[in-house]
Amino acid sequence: MKTEDAANGKSTANGGGVVYEEGGVTVLSPTDLSEMLAAGTKEVHEKAENTEFVKDFLRGRIRKELFKLGHVALYFTYSAMEEEIERNKEHPQFAPLYFPHELHRRDALARDLEFFYGEDWQDQISISPATQRYMDRIHQVGHEQPALLVAHAYTRYMGDLSGGQVLRKVAQRAMKLPPTGEGLNFYEFDGIHSAKAFKQLYRSRMNELELDTHTKEKIVEEAILAFQFNMEIFGELEEVGKTLQDDVLDAAPTHGEMQGDISQ
Ligand code: HEM
Repeated sequence: MKTEDAANGKSTANGGGVVYEEGGVTVLSPTDLSEMLAAGTKEVHEKAENTEFVKDFLRGRIRKELFKLGHVALYFTYSAMEEEIERNKEHPQFAPLYFPHELHRRDALARDLEFFYGEDWQDQISISPATQRYMDRIHQVGHEQPALLVAHAYTRYMGDLSGGQVLRKVAQRAMKLPPTGEGLNFYEFDGIHSAKAFKQLYRSRMNELELDTHTKEKIVEEAILAFQFNMEIFGELEEVGKTLQDDVLDAAPTHGEMQGDISQ
C-alpha cells in the first residue's frame, strides 16, 4: 500500500489503488496493470461482445466456411504474436509472461487448419487485409516497443481462457465436429488445469512487471487497439458471410448452457 499524488493531489492509501476526490466524488483509480486493463477495456469488450459475428457465434449460428476463415485469421495473428513473443522472451518487460507450453496457440491452430483444409492447407489460405494490419502492428510493437506486447498477449490469451469452453461446445455442436476434438484444438489448453487459477497467476505476473505509470497507460491503450483489430476481423467475416449461401445449422446452446459461467 502506498500513497501517491493523484490528479488533483488529494489522495489516500488504498489496497493497490489511489483514492482521490473529483468534483466531490470519491474515485478509485487502479494502479495494478491487471486492474487497469480490465477497467480500461471494459467498454471495448462490451462492443466486441455485441458484434454480429460474435453474437451469431454464441447463438450457434456459425457457417463452417466462416469458422474456417476465422481460424485462418487467428492462425496468422498468433503466428505474428508468438514470433514476437519468442523474440522478446528475455526482455524484462515481457519475460515473466512467457508461457509457451501453457498458452501458445499457433501449433494448435495449424492442426485445426489441416483438419479443415487437408494436407495442403498452407497453399489454400491467405492473409486478409484486417489480419495483415493486426499482424503489422504486432510486429512493429515487437521490434520497437516490447512492453506493449503485453497488451496483445493479454487481449488474446486472457480472452481465450475466459470463453474457450463455451465457444468450443457451441462450435462442435453447430458444425457437427467429432467429439474427439479434431478441428477444436484451438480451444484446448493441455498445459492448463484450471483456467481460473492460471488467469490469476497471469494477472499477478502482469502486476509484478517493472513499469512506470505512463507505460501502463500505453499498454491499456494498446489493448484497446488490439480489441479493435479483432473487431475489424469480425467485420470482414460478417461481409464474407453476406456472400455465402445461407446454410446455417440451428444448433444454438440451450438456455441452461447460456446461463453457465463463461469465465470458468
Ligand atoms: C474476460 C465473456 C468476447 C477478451 C471475459 C470474461 C467474460 C467474458 C465473462 C470474464 C472472465 C473473468 O472474470 O475472469 C465474453 C463473451 C464474449 C467475449 C460472452 C463474446 C460474446 C471477447 C473478445 C475478446 C475478449 C472478442 C478479445 C478479442 C477478453 C479478455 C478478458 C475477457 C482480455 C480478460 C478480462 C480481465 O480479466 O482483465 N470475457 N468475452 N472477449 N475477455 Fe471476453
